[in-house]
Amino acid sequence: MALLAAVKAGIFVVQAAGNTGPSPKSIASFSPWIFSVGAATHDRAYSNSIVLGNNVTIAGVGLAPGTGKDTMYPLISALDALNNDTTVTSDMYVGECQDSSSFTKELVRGNLLICSYSIRFVLGLSTVKQALQTAHNLSAAGIVFYMDPFVIGFQLNPIPMRIPGIIIPSPDDSKILLRYYNASVEREGQAKRVVKFGATALITGGLKANYSVSAPKVMYYSARGPDPEDSFLADADILKPNLVAPGNSIWAAWSSLGTDSVEFLGEHFAMMSGTSMAAPHVAGLAALIKQKFPSFSPAAIASALSTTACVYDRTVPCYTF
Ligand SMILES: *[C@@H]1O[C@H](CO)[C@@H](O)[C@H](O)[C@H]1NC(C)=O
Ligand SMILES: *[C@@H]1O[C@H](CO)[C@@H](O)[C@H](O)[C@H]1NC(C)=O
Ligand SMILES: *[C@@H]1O[C@H](CO)[C@@H](O)[C@H](O)[C@H]1NC(C)=O
Ligand SMILES: *[C@@H]1O[C@H](CO)[C@@H](O)[C@H](O)[C@H]1NC(C)=O
Ligand SMILES: *[C@@H]1O[C@H](CO)[C@@H](O)[C@H](O)[C@H]1NC(C)=O
Repeated sequence: MALLAAVKAGIFVVQAAGNTGPSPKSIASFSPWIFSVGAATHDRAYSNSIVLGNNVTIAGVGLAPGTGKDTMYPLISALDALNNDTTVTSDMYVGECQDSSSFTKELVRGNLLICSYSIRFVLGLSTVKQALQTAHNLSAAGIVFYMDPFVIGFQLNPIPMRIPGIIIPSPDDSKILLRYYNASVEREGQAKRVVKFGATALITGGLKANYSVSAPKVMYYSARGPDPEDSFLADADILKPNLVAPGNSIWAAWSSLGTDSVEFLGEHFAMMSGTSMAAPHVAGLAALIKQKFPSFSPAAIASALSTTACVYDRTVPCYTF
C-alpha cells in the first residue's frame, strides 16, 4: 500500500521479482501498480580454465590471475600434503584448506594446491579467502577448488583471488580433475602415502572479460509469474514480471566494511547476482526516460519500457525513436 501511495504521488516504483524461481507463480513482487523486474544474463563473461598435463581443459570461475601460458605446475591434493600431526579423521574438513598449519610447506611450495569446495562454503563456514591465505602461507603457485558432489544447482559468482586460482563448479568436471590427479601419483603402504607426484596443470586466469553476442536469457533463479496472489484456484490475470534486465554477475560498488559476503570483505567492488541486481538497471532507465519526458506518469514510463524492450542480441536492431 505504501508503494501504491508512492505511485499515486507520481513516483515510478521498480521492485525486484525475487530469486525464488524457476517454478511458475513463484514471484514475490505481485502488486499490479509496481514494475517488477526479473534477472537475465548479459553479454560479458569472465571465463577461467585449467589445462591439465594430459591436454584436457576444464572450465571454471575465479577473478584470478593465471599461472602463465608456458609452464605446467605440479598438482598436489591438500589431502596428500598433510603434516604428520594431521589426519582426515582428526579434521574431516582439512581438504577445504582453511588452516595452513595442517600442511607440509615443503610439499606444497611452488605447486598448485587442490582443495575441496563444499556446502560449508555456501553456508559461510569455510571461505575461499581463508583457503587463499593457506595457499599463500604455503607458497603455493596457485589454488584449484573442485566441487564437492553434494553441492548441486548452486550459482557460483566469480570470486576475486589475488593468486592464480580457479573454482571448478561442475561436479562431473571435478571428477575428471581428480581422476587425472589420482592416476598420476604413485602411492605406497597402508597409509597410501604419495611417493611420487605426476599430475601437472596451468591456470589460464579469469581477470579479463570477454564479450559475446548471445541474446539475454532468463536466469533459472529469477522468480516466475503470473501473479500468484490474484486467486488461489483460478488462473491469475496479472502478468509478472514486467521485464527482465541484466541481473547475473553484475559489478557494483561495495562497502569494504560490508559483512554480507565474506568473500568480498574489504573490497570496494563486488560482483553479485539476483533480481536485486536487475531492478536498479530499470530504475536507471526510468530516470533517463523521466529526464527526457518530464511529463510522463509512472504508467507512461512503464509502457515506454515494456514496449521498447528487446529480446535479441546486440547485432539485431531493436526499436528506434
Ligand atoms: C599435448 O599437446 C601438445 C601440443 O599439441 C603435444 O605436444 C603433447 O604431446 C600433448 N600431450 C599429451 C599428453 O597428449
Ligand atoms: C612424517 O612421517 C614420515 C613417515 O613416518 C617420516 O618419514 C617423516 O620424516 C615425518 N615427517 C616429519 C616432518 O616428521
Ligand atoms: C597464515 O599465516 C599467518 C602468519 O603465520 C597466520 O596468522 C594465519 O593464521 C595463517 N592463515 C591460514 C589460513 O592458515
Ligand atoms: C585412485 O587410484 C587408485 C589406483 O591407483 C584406486 O584404487 C582408487 O580407487 C582411486 N581413487 C579415486 C578417488 O579415484
Ligand atoms: C568467452 O566466454 C564464453 C562464455 O562463457 C566462453 O565459452 C568462451 O570460451 C570465452 N572465450 C575466451 C576467449 O575466453
